[in-house]
Amino acid sequence: MPLVCLSEFEAYAKKHLPKASWDFIAAGADECCTRDDNLMAYKRIHLRPRVLRDMSVMDTKTTVLGTEISFPVGIAPSGFHKLAWPDGERSTARAAEAMNVCYIASTYSSCSVEEIAAAAPAGLRWFQLYIHRKRTLSEQLVRRVEALGFQALVLTVDVPYTGKRRDDLRNNFQLPTYTSKNFEGAFEDEDHTNDERLHAGSVDYSVSWKDIGWLRSLTRLPLILKGILTKEDAELAMKHGVQGIVVSNHGGRQLDSVPASIDALPEITATVQDKVEVYLDGGIRTGNDVLKALALGAKCVFIGRPALWGLAYKGEEGLQEVLKILKDEFCLSMALAGCRNVSEIGRHLVQYSKL
Ligand SMILES: Cc1cc2nc3c(=O)[nH]c(=O)nc-3n(C[C@H](O)[C@H](O)[C@H](O)COP(=O)(O)O)c2cc1C
Repeated sequence: MPLVCLSEFEAYAKKHLPKASWDFIAAGADECCTRDDNLMAYKRIHLRPRVLRDMSVMDTKTTVLGTEISFPVGIAPSGFHKLAWPDGERSTARAAEAMNVCYIASTYSSCSVEEIAAAAPAGLRWFQLYIHRKRTLSEQLVRRVEALGFQALVLTVDVPYTGKRRDDLRNNFQLPTYTSKNFEGAFEDEDHTNDERLHAGSVDYSVSWKDIGWLRSLTRLPLILKGILTKEDAELAMKHGVQGIVVSNHGGRQLDSVPASIDALPEITATVQDKVEVYLDGGIRTGNDVLKALALGAKCVFIGRPALWGLAYKGEEGLQEVLKILKDEFCLSMALAGCRNVSEIGRHLVQYSKL
């Protein structure tokens, strides 16, 4: 029987992945209030369809930072895809390329950025950066991704420390390697303490707004900040000259009790007023969810866990199926709501009490 919606991929992944890997992927922080609300929040938003508008020709295409994509869904950065599928991020990159969507590769990928670029040379790739304690490693990584044709840098700003995920503690979960593939070898030829080796993949706790200038000095790539939830930080981001913002609570894995990302979105889009592109991730599971996020001002949305479920199902093919289902559902939702193309999606489409 074919899988017909994303929750069926979730059920498959839960049944077939080793428990500790499944728990790591599913985890939220603390009581998982935000993780769960990320999904529930969409169900509270109602749509206002328009009818009799000739839906014979539909077009889901749009752009991100000027590059065309087949529909406004991309792959959010997540670490260690080999936990879900042996070929890891190579399969992710190929699926994204085949579907013509944007793939944001994580600093903590289990394949190197070179392997990812080689797997899908024509794909639209952005690179998600965690600033490493040893800044020269991040500098080198930024230069590598720029040279490899990644088209934007996405700095994740909501992880000064990793959130408390109870199942990972219960399972004493350890990632298969301490070092991400992107840092492989970086600690072998120098004199490092055991502690440094142990934290070879670890983020710099001291990162602050002043580091945005430092990042800018390293690269000409557009800069996007991922993990903004307030208008105050959106304003600061714009003052620092970023090209994009991802409204995200990290899938509810960081600070618990922050709003669902869809609930944080209107505050940010009202502040940003189209001066920079605003994206969203967190809880996207259906085409209807995509439509609602676009109606509230997102230019594109990204999926985190559902991409890993697709990989767990059938690697590249499974992820393509996930994307195809979302694309078909999104197109159908657009048609039923009376939008022939993405530019016809607007605030008028949703009944939303939080505005
Ligand atoms: C297993 C896992 C690993 C993740 N790793 C990263 C990461 O390395 N960098 C990052 O910026 N976000 C990471 N995230 C957060 C995602 O980019 C994204 O914000 C979140 O998964 C979106 O929510 P969703 O899973 O409900 O779609 C991770 C999420 C998961 C589930």
